[in-house]
Amino acid sequence: MKKLKVLGICASPRSKGNMEYILGRCLEAMRRNGGDEVEIKRYLFRAKKMNPCLDCGGCYLSGECVIRDDFQRLKELWLEADIVIYAVPVYHLGLPGQLKCFIDRLGQSICAAHSGECNGKEETMPKYLKVIAPLTLGVHQVSGQEQTIMQIINHALIMQCLPVSGDAWQCYTGAGGWTQNREEKDAIEKLAGEGDFSTMALIKAIETTALRALQLARVVREGLIACREELAGDAQYRFVLDKHCSD
Ligand SMILES: Cc1cc2nc3c(=O)[nH]c(=O)nc-3n(C[C@H](O)[C@H](O)[C@H](O)COP(=O)(O)O)c2cc1C
Repeated sequence: MKKLKVLGICASPRSKGNMEYILGRCLEAMRRNGGDEVEIKRYLFRAKKMNPCLDCGGCYLSGECVIRDDFQRLKELWLEADIVIYAVPVYHLGLPGQLKCFIDRLGQSICAAHSGECNGKEETMPKYLKVIAPLTLGVHQVSGQEQTIMQIINHALIMQCLPVSGDAWQCYTGAGGWTQNREEKDAIEKLAGEGDFSTMALIKAIETTALRALQLARVVREGLIACREELAGDAQYRFVLDKHCSD
């Protein structure tokens, strides 16, 4: 059986901040639940250069984004992952610009590469079926967490992936929390150490998100194996069938 590849993306430009902490808690839970079945990689936006899409049309000619920076490496990691966990700080009630730049260029370059316009033939935008989970923190309460989560869910949908959340009242749409007006980089770790109620609910949301993401990825893998003959003729399933059903 092939391993499930997990990519944890920390979208904060700060080193060892709150998002790195909650991403770490999620990946630890993933390891606990998945053991050797999972291969985990971590990507930090810290010190990375992620330029914005210029709408230059270059990707419609070549199938690739023509701006050279850290985008290419993250795209490669994203494409190979079965589960993508986004740990996103709320910025101005939404995604930080660096992450939005990545998402814009990812979507644009992939759509371009698979559009009939580019290859002159059929539409082949892959059904990636990656399991995508949002984790987010803001410094204040009710200050953009839900919108940030929705942006990641919308990104999952447009990329033909499967958004997932954890369980129960802690995690309606994704794991969101707040650092209770504390701006220090280790605020959420301290709150967790103090056993703070809303932080413990966040940790529970993160842990159930990890478990449900893993389970859904297993369902996708097994489902593809079971349906491979039926799906084989559909160009949009080629990418995932090659990934999960080839020897
Ligand atoms: C440019 C900027 C905008 C921010 N906007 C918001 C916001 O709209 N709502 C909020 O609750 N927190 C906001 N914050 C606070 C961060 O979301 C919060 O401090 C987060 O924990 C930072 O994660 P980090 O420690 O991993 O860098 C903002 C921070 C920055 C730097």
